[in-house]
Amino acid sequence: MTQHPVAQDRTTELLISSDQRLPSAPLSSQSGRRTALVKTVSIVCSGVVSIELCPAVAGEPFPPFEAGAHIDLHLQGGMVRSYSLHNAPGEENRYAIGVLNDNASRGGSRWIHEHLRAGDHIPISSPRNLFALNELQPAHSVFVAGGIGVTPILSMLRRLVQLGRNAHVILCARSRSSAPFLDELTHLTSLGITLHTHFDDEAGGPPSLSSLLAAHQPHDHFYCCGPSPMLTNFESTCAELGFANVHVERFKAEQPVSPKIALTGHCTVELRKSGMTLEIPKNKPALQAFLDAGVDIEFSCEEGVCGACETRILEGEAEHRDSVLSGAQKAAQKSMMVCVSRCRSDRMVLDL
Ligand code: FES
Repeated sequence: MTQHPVAQDRTTELLISSDQRLPSAPLSSQSGRRTALVKTVSIVCSGVVSIELCPAVAGEPFPPFEAGAHIDLHLQGGMVRSYSLHNAPGEENRYAIGVLNDNASRGGSRWIHEHLRAGDHIPISSPRNLFALNELQPAHSVFVAGGIGVTPILSMLRRLVQLGRNAHVILCARSRSSAPFLDELTHLTSLGITLHTHFDDEAGGPPSLSSLLAAHQPHDHFYCCGPSPMLTNFESTCAELGFANVHVERFKAEQPVSPKIALTGHCTVELRKSGMTLEIPKNKPALQAFLDAGVDIEFSCEEGVCGACETRILEGEAEHRDSVLSGAQKAAQKSMMVCVSRCRSDRMVLDL
């Protein structure tokens, strides 16, 4: 995306268009999947709905979740989309997501807006969290939300309110009418949260993150979820200001996945739990080979951003191409995202 950070709200879906799916891939692994009942669908603001999900089967409660977590929705036609939960952790048997009907949608958010209704049933995954809130230290937290990127931040703010902590949130949107969950954020200001809003149409342009963040302390924790240009701007601004505790939620690959080193030949991959050994070309991601062999493996984005396919490495080394693991985690070679990462060594043993 080349537009300025908040000129185009983006959906929190982790995008996989049906034409990008692996040709012979089944929907996904059955592990962790359950059916949810759509309890309510309500309009939040222009182009955004909030969807409340509850267990479809009495006595089969939803797993608990942490602030910042997301779930996958398995939609018609094999589409899988991930959406952040915006309700408070600890709320039992209820997941709430926000969905933007994005003009750039490759089908998922549009399908939800046009077809998903209260009373429908839909398969969902267990929650995963790649955007964890620092709950251990009583540090001050500062949040920057761009458009629909406010959803995981809303859950984090609710959690901080539960903990009796204060926080500051900067909500950025093109206009007041397109700012999702503005009423809910405003309500939180009576519970210890301070709110700064920036609307492009009222301010005459995009926000200056350096001036909005400069007054905060280097030991604070800084979180951002929004369009890719906003995340890039946020990270570089935090680096310039000397902020070390920086957390971002990415919904698209940081950079297009492209070969980093030339990989030739094959890798012998032993799948310890499945009792299989496969020969996989080193220049191909392993997921397709696993699916072709009938291995039960969970996956969602196939872009290396959601963490669904993370697989433990027992032996060998991977060529990491994901946006989930940190540099240190990649160097440690403890796990790999098999949807985009490749086998580097001639032999690998995976905990699969
Ligand atoms: S399926 Fe999302 S990281 Fe692999």
